[in-house]
Amino acid sequence: MQQPVRIAPSILSADFARLGEEVRALDAAGADWIHVDVMDGHFVPNLTIGPAVVKALRPHTAKPFDVHLMIAPVDPFLAAFAEAGADTITVHPEAGPHLHRTLQAIKALGKRAGVSLNPATPAKMLDYVLAEVDLVLVMSVNPGFGGQGFLASQLKKIEAIRKRIDTLGKAIDLEVDGGIDAETARLAVSAGADALVAGTATFRGGPAAYAANIAGLRG
Ligand code: DX5
Ligand code: ZN
Repeated sequence: MQQPVRIAPSILSADFARLGEEVRALDAAGADWIHVDVMDGHFVPNLTIGPAVVKALRPHTAKPFDVHLMIAPVDPFLAAFAEAGADTITVHPEAGPHLHRTLQAIKALGKRAGVSLNPATPAKMLDYVLAEVDLVLVMSVNPGFGGQGFLASQLKKIEAIRKRIDTLGKAIDLEVDGGIDAETARLAVSAGADALVAGTATFRGGPAAYAANIAGLRG
C-alpha cells in the first residue's frame, strides 16, 4: 500500500563545511529522513563521505538516516555504517557479489535493508529478494552526482514495483532518487512512489527556503 510521502533531503547538496548545522536545519524544516549518499570513486565516478561523517552527524538529529551506499565491495563496510548510526542501508545489486547475502547481513545488524536499481537495471532484479527488503530505491538518474535531469523512463518501473509491493502486501517503502523537483515529485508519486530523495530542490535558495522547498515536494 502506498504510504504518505516521506521527503529525504540528500546532504550531497549541503554545505559540507557546515554539515551538522545543515542537518539540524533540515530537521527543523520538516525532512522525514536524512539521505546520505556514499560514493567510492569506483562503483560511481565520485567520492563523498564515509562512516566517520555519519557518526559525527548522528547527534545532530533524531530523524532516520537513509544511507545510500554506492560502493563496491559493499559487505566490508556494512557494520561500520550500522555502528555509525544508519537506520536504513540501501545497496545496489551490481555492488555484489551476492545481493541476498548482503541483505541478510544488513538485517543481522538490526537495520532496515534497501535495494537500489539503476536506470538500466530491471525491476526483475527484485524477483527473489523483495520479501526480504524494507525499501526499494529507484534511481531516476545515473548514480554519482546531484543536479541531473529526471529520467521519465523510470516511471514505468516505479509503477511495476508498486504493483509488486501491493501484491506482496508488505509495507515496503518505494523511494525515488534523482532529479526530483515539485513537478517530477508529482509524476513519481502518481506512479506509486512514497518516498522522495531531493538534493538540488531542497537546498535551492539557502536555509531560509528549506521548509518551503520540502513542503513543495509533498505536493
Ligand atoms: C545520486 C544521488 C542522489 C542525488 C540526488 O547518485 O544518489 O541522492 O544526490 O540529487 P538531485 O536531487 O540533485 O538530483
Ligand atoms: Zn541517493
